[in-house]
Amino acid sequence: SSDLAAVVLQALSASTDSCIEDTWEFAISGGHDHAALVGALMSLQADAMTASEVRQASFWELTAEGKEVAAYGSPEYQVWKAVPAGDAGISKADLEAQLGAPLVKIGMGACMKVGWLKKGPQGALVKGSDDVRDTTQDKLRALEAAGGALESLSAEDAKELKRRKMVTQIMRKSFKVRAEFRNVLMQMGFEEMPTNRWVESSFWNFDALFQPQSHPARDAHDTFFVKDPAQAVSVPADYLKVVQEMHENGGSGSIGYRYKWKREEAMKNLLRTHTTAISSQMLYKLANQEGGFQPKRYFSIDRVFRNESMDATHLCEFHQVEGLVADRNLSLGDLIGTIKFFFERIGITQVRFKPAYNPYTEPSMEIFGYHPDLKRWTEIGNSGMFRPEMLRPMGLPEDVRVIAWGLSLERPTMIKYRISNIRELFGHKADLGRTKRAPICRFDI
Ligand code: PHE
Repeated sequence: SSDLAAVVLQALSASTDSCIEDTWEFAISGGHDHAALVGALMSLQADAMTASEVRQASFWELTAEGKEVAAYGSPEYQVWKAVPAGDAGISKADLEAQLGAPLVKIGMGACMKVGWLKKGPQGALVKGSDDVRDTTQDKLRALEAAGGALESLSAEDAKELKRRKMVTQIMRKSFKVRAEFRNVLMQMGFEEMPTNRWVESSFWNFDALFQPQSHPARDAHDTFFVKDPAQAVSVPADYLKVVQEMHENGGSGSIGYRYKWKREEAMKNLLRTHTTAISSQMLYKLANQEGGFQPKRYFSIDRVFRNESMDATHLCEFHQVEGLVADRNLSLGDLIGTIKFFFERIGITQVRFKPAYNPYTEPSMEIFGYHPDLKRWTEIGNSGMFRPEMLRPMGLPEDVRVIAWGLSLERPTMIKYRISNIRELFGHKADLGRTKRAPICRFDI
């Protein structure tokens, strides 16, 4: 079963849309047992590696007898074929010796009825026609070729073949399998960032991102500050000084914000408002690692907190999917291309960008996805290139650009599973049955 799990994952990564349309067809074409394949799939889902939708369909299946007829012809055809041409014909006993009594018994009556055979002198069987067409075999072969599709058999033929116990109708349950965010990002070469710490200093959440201390998002109306311990223990001292200088006086061509930056404000603990608080730490490490900067792709999927008024689409805590690419001389084209590619892989094929403002990115672009059910464009995320005011104090080389994007995990999930109220997805009113069936929504952090 672990072999089959590898088969599924390989097929997902090889397919252009990270999707196996139908496990049944997939199993047949690859020569796998469908039940075993589904077993492997279920264990992948328990690990949140894939998600799937059930597909149910009715099909015609040939019985053992039906398969024999498809291969060798109907009993009446076999009997007719065994009778030699000409007036002498063959005796019933000789025919039985050749074909076996049971086949002759079924086939002979049918042949007489349609005139394929007739009684000759001394009771011999002689051909009533020199050229017959075995339409029963034709129909069964066509049905096999059509994969048992219901519509490939007329009601009349279906009734007849069922009566002759050559076909039965079966209900086939199979799955459509999709690789989800995490899988898609791993396939695109992104490494997962360690995001298992919810409490963060204002420094990494805001200051390192060149977000001024007077910014409205840093107000208690928008952010949950932690009372105890209220202050972070430490941040890198040298780096803190450079960040302070950038805020107060600028550098790298920027004039800064020209205000008195306060260390106490930066040291305030909070529940992180975005996973970009982790991205900033990872980039700082990347700039200062032994051997110097190396190009990287990072992602995370984890929880963030905002002091929002709650409604059908907003909660105080939700999950963000965040991605970033750090490399030399990246362009806006790289950002657009990477994001389009990523969304295509999760099934959102129509994506548009709209210029926006973000304190830490320039340019910044909101991402809109077309929702085919709602027939409208909905905002699905935010993106941009991190500003030099953020990257240079970290010590990243001048030509290194970082393209990044962030989106709520819940929003595309609500679109995908047609959930109109976020409380059905997340929190104490969540339907746990659905959570089990849709592992994209993870509570195991
Ligand atoms: N941090 C932003 C948010 O919370 C998303 C984002 C990430 C925007 C990276 C630009 C770059 O909405």
